[in-house]
Amino acid sequence: MAALHLAFALALFTGHAAGVNNGLARTPQMGWNNWNALGCDVSESLLLDTSKKLVDSGLRDVGYNYVVLDDCWSRGRDEEGFLEEDLEKFPSGMSAVAEELHRQGLLFGMYSSAGEMTCARYAGSLDWEENDAKSFAGWGVDYLKYDNCYHMGRFGTPKLSFDRYKVMWDALNSTGRPILYSLCNWGEDYSHTWGMSIANSWRMSGDIYDSFSRPDDLCSCIDASSPFCIAPGTHCSVLNIINKVAPYVDRGQPGGWNDLDMLEVGNGGMTDEEYKAHFSLWAALKSPLLMGNDLRSLSAASLTILNNPAVIAISQDPVGHSVYRVRRELNVAKDKYGVGEIQVWSGGLSGGDQVVLLLNAAGEDARISASLEEIFLHDGPEGSAPQINEEWEVFDLWGNRMDNALAQKILDADEKDVEKLWKQANWYNSTEISYKEGLKKRDERLMGKKVGKINAGGSLTAKVKRHSVEMFRLRSVGHGGKRKVHAKEEL
Ligand code: GAL
Repeated sequence: MAALHLAFALALFTGHAAGVNNGLARTPQMGWNNWNALGCDVSESLLLDTSKKLVDSGLRDVGYNYVVLDDCWSRGRDEEGFLEEDLEKFPSGMSAVAEELHRQGLLFGMYSSAGEMTCARYAGSLDWEENDAKSFAGWGVDYLKYDNCYHMGRFGTPKLSFDRYKVMWDALNSTGRPILYSLCNWGEDYSHTWGMSIANSWRMSGDIYDSFSRPDDLCSCIDASSPFCIAPGTHCSVLNIINKVAPYVDRGQPGGWNDLDMLEVGNGGMTDEEYKAHFSLWAALKSPLLMGNDLRSLSAASLTILNNPAVIAISQDPVGHSVYRVRRELNVAKDKYGVGEIQVWSGGLSGGDQVVLLLNAAGEDARISASLEEIFLHDGPEGSAPQINEEWEVFDLWGNRMDNALAQKILDADEKDVEKLWKQANWYNSTEISYKEGLKKRDERLMGKKVGKINAGGSLTAKVKRHSVEMFRLRSVGHGGKRKVHAKEEL
């Protein structure tokens, strides 16, 4: 009995009554993965050129610290059953890559599949979990993306998938090395209902592709909880994915997150406004933020989307709550694919602030309004939330986007000049001050640009271009007075 009490007290004390507790991904993980832009074209030089770019462009210092190598890196197993890296692609070996990344202040991620083969038909880890976890830990790996191809029919119920993925979780744990565990089972077998018990993130959709709204037969599932969603597929648009995650946004929590898939920002298929909307939603929905573009040819426009600290601060807010959808309108102008909708998303932040996204996924520009009653729906339905009676300052989270000319200067600068440019720009550096600390101090660079006020009982209105988003931080004037802040902050 005493032991039971102690366990309960400990759970209360640490605040981790459930879910994984390996200390990792307390906020959604950030980094880069080669798959979206480069597929199987992987090599040691790709990883090292990318890591150098991460450092020199300042992307590491706004938070992108994992360099994740996807499929196609191995040449099979040795006689003792251990995976070997392809030495033509990785001539110095994986340990050397890990060492170099660590020296640059970065972390190293690798990939395998809970199947007999990976999706690109390289050796998989199913029934080899202990060996492979030992190899990853021995090489100095900090992150494992674990895919779902060739699973030998061991799927079809949540328990079957859970058990298959748990074997690797246990194997990773028994190495003693903290390794972020990222499930890539495309939402199959309702991974949003069990992922949080064994993993730091779980994919909830088939693969993303570089389109904002185009429907595609290869991504036939529009509702991940449907029993007919047997083939989550590929070619899923940004809009398809956010509509799928809408009913599960509350599954994410510090330590375990809904994974909406890697970012497409910079890959060329969407407009600047569409990429901003994609990035804003991934941040506010608490998806891991893994850049999926080729950083060796990073453009100034992509850099200024990816390095916006006011938007990243929403992703990295210590409260760890996703935004919720509070409105979806389908009766609006359609785009060229016959798709069109308007959505309003809202969520609580640390310090009693609120983030609001007005998404125009329709075929025409629109004026979108959201009342405080709607914005604070989750703090009390039918107008019962105390926040409705407060006055709010409004900050545009894209208002201080980095100037294109400065971004280009940074990208063109010699190694020795980069630091100087960064100092001059006074851009946010999360290696020096974490987002948690910066938010506590209300660092201006995380707040966005003040654009107006909402009176008590009022509403937020903005003109939103077609296929774009307006994203705001709301701050109560007088900080909410005596209002109890519902969101529980991480200690
Ligand atoms: C898919 C996965 C992609 C990528 C690819 C590699 O199953 O969802 O993100 O990892 O396999 O073959």
